[in-house]
Amino acid sequence: MNRPVLEGMRLNVPAYVKHDRLVSWVAEIAALTEAQGVHWCDGSKEEYDRFCDQLVGAGTMMRLNPELRPNSFLARSAPDDVARVEDRTFICSERQEEAGPTNNWMAPAEMRTLLQTGDKALFRGAMRGRTLYVVPFSMGPLGSHISHIGVELTDSPYVAVSMRVMTRMGRGALDVLGSDGEFVPCVHTVGAPLQAGQADVAWPCNKTKYIVHYPETREIWSYGSGYGGNALLGKKCFALRIASNMGRQAAQGDNPGWLAEHMLVLGVTSPAGKKYHVAAAFPSACGKTNFSMLVPPAGYAGWKVTTIGDDIAWIKPHADGRLYAINPEAGYFGVAPGTNEHTNPNCLASLKSDVVFTNVALTDDGDVWWEGLTNEPPAHLIDWQGRDWTPAIAAENTAGGKPRAAAHPNSRFTVAAIHNPVLDAEWDNPNGVPIDAFIFGGRRSTTVPLVTEARDWTEGVYMAATMGSETTAAMAGGNGAVRRDPFAMLPFVGYNMSDYFQHWLQIGDKLAKSGATLPRIYCVNWFRKGADGEFVWPGYGENMRALEWMIGRIEGQAGGAENAFGTSPRYEDMRWDGLDFTPAQFASVIGIDRAAWQQELVLHSELFQMLHHNLPAVMPATKARIEQRLSA
Ligand code: OXD
Ligand code: MN
Repeated sequence: MNRPVLEGMRLNVPAYVKHDRLVSWVAEIAALTEAQGVHWCDGSKEEYDRFCDQLVGAGTMMRLNPELRPNSFLARSAPDDVARVEDRTFICSERQEEAGPTNNWMAPAEMRTLLQTGDKALFRGAMRGRTLYVVPFSMGPLGSHISHIGVELTDSPYVAVSMRVMTRMGRGALDVLGSDGEFVPCVHTVGAPLQAGQADVAWPCNKTKYIVHYPETREIWSYGSGYGGNALLGKKCFALRIASNMGRQAAQGDNPGWLAEHMLVLGVTSPAGKKYHVAAAFPSACGKTNFSMLVPPAGYAGWKVTTIGDDIAWIKPHADGRLYAINPEAGYFGVAPGTNEHTNPNCLASLKSDVVFTNVALTDDGDVWWEGLTNEPPAHLIDWQGRDWTPAIAAENTAGGKPRAAAHPNSRFTVAAIHNPVLDAEWDNPNGVPIDAFIFGGRRSTTVPLVTEARDWTEGVYMAATMGSETTAAMAGGNGAVRRDPFAMLPFVGYNMSDYFQHWLQIGDKLAKSGATLPRIYCVNWFRKGADGEFVWPGYGENMRALEWMIGRIEGQAGGAENAFGTSPRYEDMRWDGLDFTPAQFASVIGIDRAAWQQELVLHSELFQMLHHNLPAVMPATKARIEQRLSA
């Protein structure tokens, strides 16, 4: 093979790399960014360990006490690089209507000038003094017909380490790619070039940030952040924003295309051994990981919930007419605060070893702590910014009236799925698992009932499209205000939201026409609050009761009552043994308050107003039907 040579730099291409186009692209990016050297990640354990040692040496990570948390690390980010930056995230389609009103947009040529081609282009020289890591990865099981390959070029060894946990990373992905396979090119820099002799900082990043997607050419360019979804480009950027485009573009003629969704996927097995698969969409930091690892409560002996994925699902119609889902990821990048023995014991069990924690607090014995891990905090901690923390210090330094948190509210754990004790046996099945139900849930302290079944696919799409949720710390600036978050995909649909609704409707239409039984669609809300401001529904493991009702509906056995919005259970339609939950409490989480719903529908109208371009006509028509029922 004719290997490009860059003056003064070796590309270090391993002999097993057979893909000329990939090598040329690496050479091009290395030249643009003026990287000091190139390392091709093979994904081996030795390589991972070496990178971790290097990160410890650089002060980015510290090794936790090996007796308490073997082979685990704590990373602390820069204080202003702690969450996804939605206002700096762009969909650069040729035409602005393609990106739609819910995405930031810039013309591709203009963005390329800014990032790549202009005299002062941000990527020019951005990796000076740093190594460029070539990170090949497969989203989804290696070789699965549902999977796709990406290659991330990054100057962050923390990203390389995280990508090994979160994806099938390394040589295996290159083997799938062969000599001319397709891959999504992903370029990432922390945007902090080093001059000769300049000392590095523990968490290099840049105040200027750009998270850029070119849907037509399927490229991702990310500048300035080293954190989570901004930097691990397989996750939100590829598996949701680019993949949602891929799934829609695949819809041609009879081919319904496919779906890339912000959904956990779980298996639920009844005592009779019957297994169902459920895909559930919730906005960031609303309990997807908890739900995917749910422990059924007392009284549910013989029921089992197993995890296929906790954040993203790729869903494709199969020859049998059903929708099959894979988890494109191979690990969990979950929110730590609030995770404990009650909320998610299986998650805690997953975190016993081999974890990279980011921005949690450090205990005096070299372990980790976060708000909610234990009722009482330890007497002393080092907080996520490396400062002393005691309950007294926290109380003196209040942030927004609350004691200063020891762990950042968006602090995270990064751990491989194989550590999950309830990992589903089929989680790695290249064909995926057949989906029986979709669940959509927001964080709403009022209005939306605990659980509602859509009467048909269109009503389900309407429920998902109009979903609202109170914002969380997973996005920079998240402050609890309700925003519409259609399908929990507001920050993640890589094209026009109205076209995305249409794509969902069309998939339903095409599958129904082929004679398939479509998955049922449900809307849930675990978060309704009482007059005392406390959550009424106990949530977590008790969500099994709602899940059992949904399965009962699928089996044609569970009863329910129709309301304006769909069909919800009556008290007697759910099982209550083992839980002290009164009919009055139930009424307060299931009831439809007419005035609140009238107000809610005004907000649906505002959403439709914003999305008027290409909005499917069935959306306002469905709203009109709900209005009619409400006033009946
Ligand atoms: C995530 C998110 O990291 O949704 O999964 O922010
Ligand atoms: Mn997510």
